[in-house]
Amino acid sequence: MNDILSKDPMDEEVALEKSLRPQFLSQYIGQDKIKEQLEIFIKAAKMREEVLDHVLLFGPPGLGKTTMAFVIANELGVHIKQTAGPAIEKPGDLVAILNELEPGDVLFIDEIHRLPMQVEEILYSAMEDFYIDIMLGNGDGSRSVHLDLPPFTLVGATTRAGMLSNPLRARFGITAHMEYYNETSLEEIIKRTADIFEVDVIDDAALEIALRSRGTPRIANRLLKRVRDFAQIMGNGTVDKLITDKALTILDVDNEGLDYIDQKILRNMIEMYAGGPVGLSTIAVNIAEDRETVEDMYEPYLIQKGFIMRTKQGRKATQRAYAHLGYPYPTEN
Ligand SMILES: Nc1ncnc2c1ncn2[C@@H]1O[C@H](COP(=O)(O)OP(=O)(O)OP(=O)(O)O)[C@@H](O)[C@H]1O
Ligand SMILES: [Mg+2]
Repeated sequence: MNDILSKDPMDEEVALEKSLRPQFLSQYIGQDKIKEQLEIFIKAAKMREEVLDHVLLFGPPGLGKTTMAFVIANELGVHIKQTAGPAIEKPGDLVAILNELEPGDVLFIDEIHRLPMQVEEILYSAMEDFYIDIMLGNGDGSRSVHLDLPPFTLVGATTRAGMLSNPLRARFGITAHMEYYNETSLEEIIKRTADIFEVDVIDDAALEIALRSRGTPRIANRLLKRVRDFAQIMGNGTVDKLITDKALTILDVDNEGLDYIDQKILRNMIEMYAGGPVGLSTIAVNIAEDRETVEDMYEPYLIQKGFIMRTKQGRKATQRAYAHLGYPYPTEN
């Protein structure tokens, strides 16, 4: 099975992602609206010698949220401290992190929707007025301690804006909704990556990879990496259209960019539930994934491509899904 979506924990993959990350806004491809706005906000903050307002980045996995957080810090010329919602278990963990910040720094909290509630509550005053009040000790001996913080910029990333509490969301001055990339941007990203890899990619092959990358730079880079392997073994090292088609077929990525699991989700809905409506949890159980994964990774793309519809009763496979997978569309009776 070729799961092109998962965030691969392998060190090699992590190192690869790092090496491919654009460092500045000028190198960041696509997401033009977000870039335009950030450029202005960053310039203005620097001019006034103030910290940049807190930034919330949201969008499906692999669209460049982490990359953007680092770009923001680079553009501001400050340090970035990186952590993630699940890593901050207790208020004390957050206090330790906040304590290390220097004036103007960026604190990047990935998966910010997964912060425990007591931690989130401390963040409110930290974000708004740069102080925290924490309780030390317990029982009769406990006392509240007031701690002033250096002004900082919180950059939060989440795949699910809907899971963020209103008070937290309201404290971000800048909200950026990342969108799936169009083919032109993906093609550009693929060519940039190919340059870094020092591999020749023919234009129509780059476009083909772009079309099959689910609008996602992480997938584009990963597919290029795999197609490059095929080109090296089956061809002369150049990534051309023929090799690309062959490789992507072997990798189970179809011409709409759907991978094995996307296809399985749709087939399952069609074969077992007459196209739905099916609940998200049922879909998840049937493909042996958790609900969150289906909701974050698979569903948004299937919806955007018009293969799945969200209804009050559950998810339905569309006529387009039937046609794409070669099933006859049932006529209503
Ligand atoms: N605009 C871009 N231009 C070039 N490459 C990009 C761009 N955005 C992302 N990438 C590449 O895609 C990969 C994934 O990006 P990143 O890790 O920032 O995504 P993410 O949104 O943080 O994902 P996740 O939600 O899984 O944490 C990176 O290796 C980066 O090289
Ligand atoms: Mg990330």
